Amino acid sequence: MSTSITKFGFKTAVSDKRLVGLWRMLAGFRLAYLGAVLGVGIAAALGSGNSLLLRYFVDDVLGQERFDRTLPLVGLSFVALALGQGAFSFLSGKLSARTAEGITRRLRNYLYDHIQRLSFTYHDQTQTGELIQRTTSDVDALRRFFADQAIGAGRIILLFVINFAALMSLNTRLALLSVMVVPLIVVMSLFFFRKVSKAYEAFQEQEAKLSTTLQENLTGVRVVKAFARQSYERDKFEQDNWEQFQRGRWLLTLHSMFWPSSDILCGGQMLGALVAGALMAINGTITVGTYLASTGLIIWLIWPIRNLGRLIVQMSTGMVSYKRVVELIKEEREPLDEGTYRPSGNVRGEIVFRDVCFEYDNGDSAVLKDISFRCEPGQAVALLGSTGSGKTSLVNLLPRFYEYTSGSLTLDGVELKEYPRHFLRQQIGIVEQEPFLFSRTIRENITYGVGREVSDEEAEAAARAAALHDVITSFPDGYDTLVGEKGVTLSGGQKQRVAIARTLLKDPRILILDDATSSVDTETEGEIRQALQHLMQGRSTFIIAHRIQSVMNADLILVLDQGWIVQRGTHDELMAQEGIYRQIYDVQARIEDELEREIGQTSEVSETSEVWEEVACVAL
Ligand code: UTP
Ligand code: MG
Repeated sequence: MSTSITKFGFKTAVSDKRLVGLWRMLAGFRLAYLGAVLGVGIAAALGSGNSLLLRYFVDDVLGQERFDRTLPLVGLSFVALALGQGAFSFLSGKLSARTAEGITRRLRNYLYDHIQRLSFTYHDQTQTGELIQRTTSDVDALRRFFADQAIGAGRIILLFVINFAALMSLNTRLALLSVMVVPLIVVMSLFFFRKVSKAYEAFQEQEAKLSTTLQENLTGVRVVKAFARQSYERDKFEQDNWEQFQRGRWLLTLHSMFWPSSDILCGGQMLGALVAGALMAINGTITVGTYLASTGLIIWLIWPIRNLGRLIVQMSTGMVSYKRVVELIKEEREPLDEGTYRPSGNVRGEIVFRDVCFEYDNGDSAVLKDISFRCEPGQAVALLGSTGSGKTSLVNLLPRFYEYTSGSLTLDGVELKEYPRHFLRQQIGIVEQEPFLFSRTIRENITYGVGREVSDEEAEAAARAAALHDVITSFPDGYDTLVGEKGVTLSGGQKQRVAIARTLLKDPRILILDDATSSVDTETEGEIRQALQHLMQGRSTFIIAHRIQSVMNADLILVLDQGWIVQRGTHDELMAQEGIYRQIYDVQARIEDELEREIGQTSEVSETSEVWEEVACVAL
């Protein structure tokens, strides 16, 4: 499996299970991590050395009254040990920061890339807030895990082992007395670990729900305002927020129950050990120097025990986030370059549907039923049908956004499933029903995804062809005008024209126009239709439109109803038959006539509204 490292520092084209497992997540940072743990260990050992030196100083220097050259040497050693301890702590902190930040940077990049490679079906079924939560807050919890807890674990174990060994070397009984509380702390921590894990998981889930609500509200703020639903939405948010507050409070309650209990246990342990040590010193079992040294060691022995519990509980949050991140990583990606067929050059564009049926994963009935038709290279196929009849679903099968359930769909005689998705999507240009523009300049939006350098002249020519140039030049910044949240807001029709210009530049072999002229006025539609006619030449085209005028020139017109093709043929053929097509034609022609007449006579408003009511009734 190839493992090319991109400039972003994450690997593409690697197994999607690559980052599963904490040790694997550490890949590339293991040395730094081990270095950080080692640094902590050395600092701990130097700290214990300090205590042992104290014993030597009290018993052998002060006790023996050796004030010759030993005294300054001991003094210097104290300074050297303290300096060494500081230096290694610093080094360890630096390495652990590098490990944690490096891992999370790579993880975030990886998840961003990964999310874009998941299938349409996955995105249909997953809430945006949930994905945001997992790539931000959960990754951050993992960062804390690697920065504090994973290094902390190494530190705690080393501190414990070193100080325990040092204490054992001084006095075995005292050492054993000092760790009596350890099993109790471990059992209690594991109990809280499970409790906190559950509480934190519930907390994260609720937070994801809250960010979904917020994100949906911000996106749909116009709808909220238009329907004057602010107070309803506020109440709904307040309710979610209250739930979040409850869960957060429970989490903190658990923490606040744990800390005092562990502090009491550890405090008791320390007191007990110090008193026992004092008694031993009074009895003469140990020297005064040993007692002084052991107090330092006991403090440094209890510290890791106390922190062990804290760490175990904190780790539970890291583990929950780790689980949530891994769930996302494990989602199957949509393979872009699989497929057994390796086409050379562009496709011709012969598309044949044979008894194609299709059903959405989350839907309960077939959306497309026994679809059969043929589109010769360069032909135009028009799809007409009421809303929800399956037009968009049908064209979405071509770039393999979704997989048809049964039947056969071939492009140039090869089954569509044999083609790599990436290749298909390069060959197909789509002007979507609701085009999406990025918060970038108009130029960037027009040249988006073209896959090659586009000169300013080319971009301008495409904009002219899409009847967009005049609109753009009316903005003070012209092609450099920012669109979207930070810049100007384009109208629905203008957005559609940006999408048309973008597709013109892409120059695909197969063209899909999903209601490309739905939100433009009749005059602009005329202009765009001309541009589209020009664009359609020599390309296989699928046109979805509601106006007969937009589809009448197509080589084949398919009328869809509830997923079935109910009528097919050219405009003339369909006009010669009884059926939906002729009904639509008649209604649309009549409406246009009447409208013209009404406008000509500047008639009363009430009559005009009758005509509009009729338009609405046709439900097309
Ligand atoms: P389409 O989206 O294909 O209908 O949905 P359409 O013909 O293009 O309609 P308009 O003209 O744009 O409005 C066909 C059916 O598929 C279901 C819809 O509920 C509809 O009944 N559907 C669509 C899903 O179940 N899931 C989807 O992601 C999209
Ligand atoms: Mg549609």
